[in-house]
Amino acid sequence: MEIKSQKEISKTYILPVYKENESIKFFEESSFSSHINTLLEDFPFEGKTQQTKEFYLDNQQHIVLIGLSKEPSFEEMRKAGNTIYNFSKNYNQVSIALSFEEQLQKSFLEGLMLSDYSFSKYCANKEEDKSSLNFGVIGVNQEIIEDVENLCEVVKEVRDLVNENADITTPQYLEDVAKKFAKKYKLQSTILDEKQIQKQGLNLIHAVGKGSDKPPRLIIVEYNGNPNSKEKTALVGKGITFDTGGTNLKPSGHVEDMKLDMAGAATAYGAFKYLVEQKVEENLLLVMPCAENALSHNAYKPGDVFIGYSGRSVEVMNTDAEGRLVLADALSYAQNHFQPTKIIDMATLTGASLVALGPSIIATLGNSQDALTQIFESGETTGERVWQFPIYDEHREMLKSPIADCKNIGGKLGGTITAAAFLEQFIEDGVEWTHLDMAGPAWFDSQKSYVPRYATGIGVRLLVDYIKNKK
Ligand code: BES
Ligand code: MG
Ligand code: ZN
Repeated sequence: MEIKSQKEISKTYILPVYKENESIKFFEESSFSSHINTLLEDFPFEGKTQQTKEFYLDNQQHIVLIGLSKEPSFEEMRKAGNTIYNFSKNYNQVSIALSFEEQLQKSFLEGLMLSDYSFSKYCANKEEDKSSLNFGVIGVNQEIIEDVENLCEVVKEVRDLVNENADITTPQYLEDVAKKFAKKYKLQSTILDEKQIQKQGLNLIHAVGKGSDKPPRLIIVEYNGNPNSKEKTALVGKGITFDTGGTNLKPSGHVEDMKLDMAGAATAYGAFKYLVEQKVEENLLLVMPCAENALSHNAYKPGDVFIGYSGRSVEVMNTDAEGRLVLADALSYAQNHFQPTKIIDMATLTGASLVALGPSIIATLGNSQDALTQIFESGETTGERVWQFPIYDEHREMLKSPIADCKNIGGKLGGTITAAAFLEQFIEDGVEWTHLDMAGPAWFDSQKSYVPRYATGIGVRLLVDYIKNKK
């Protein structure tokens, strides 16, 4: 699919409409309006949102109406993008009149572009997937189209990384991806391999990774987009390239999608990449602790105690609560060496977040209500919605251990909260911290409009909006 700004209309021309006082109104009046109004007398159209109606005019012009609300929301526009994508797939030349304000135009384009995705490299008929559609947008600047294109390309790259076989997207692979990107933009990167992880005392990352023949990495990339500012935001993503659960092995029905467990790292990378490419005036740090949580004779064991990089000891009561362990060391190391003033971590951390919020909402927790409120607003804008949970002392107490400074699970109840309470112990005083548990929306079992099944890429647009608009 190719999308470009266009002045002339194509063979197939799409006109968004809304319903008012039982009649159909055009968002943009055109020379076709009266003709279509006449046709509507004989071929009525309800004009409900996302409903379409086609006409062939006498001159063979193909007209398609799509119903919207009089004042459509951003999400409605994204869904319209998906409706139009599905409709247009079978045509070569389509144009649409998009006389809306910029943010609504962008939302439509997002829905359109994000729908144009399939992970089909392992399918015999992969070429048939490619749409040869030329899509013309009338009333939109080419720069807007290109900006949305850049963002959506990054989202699709994140989807690809998460969908790819776990034996391909290993910690080493993620290192290669990050290094290549850092080199292209001349960014400083710091990569700790297994030896350095051990030598420098990142014993929690080491413990999680040691059962695998694919050794762990801690990957850090720096971007100084605003040298005059003391503010620095770290984007920290959980990079478990496969989560078997370890000795606390995941049963069938729970393990099949566990290549998704590096979605946090992929999302952090995607948002970082887009923001660097846009040359945002922010100081950013990308932090990806990567390991495979495998089961082998070398794997770490329940009951073992490890002293992490911060000096805090952790009693491992469940080897399946591995994400918080790699994140803890990554948070400690990043704060010690790079002094971020703000941290946003994202992780497919707990099945409990799915139980609480269903499959499509990101759980948020943190130590700054301002940041949490702003990320909520970004969720409403981007359609990548979040909902906040609290952390109270009674949750913190659930992590007490008789033989270590804490244990890595808090019991059966409140799992999303105790996981965040665990991470909180590794946040230094004065550092603003927001945690996003994206275990639900990182992966969909079935397609939802412009979001495909399997890897969704959700979180990239949320982070980008938050970082661009935060006060
Ligand atoms: N990667 C999982 C969380 C997960 C579950 C992600 C379902 C996506 C879908 C995480 O490492 C995990 O296993 N968490 C455990 C924690 C428990 C042992 C306290 C869980 O949620 O069961
Ligand atoms: Mg696990
Ligand atoms: Zn995991």
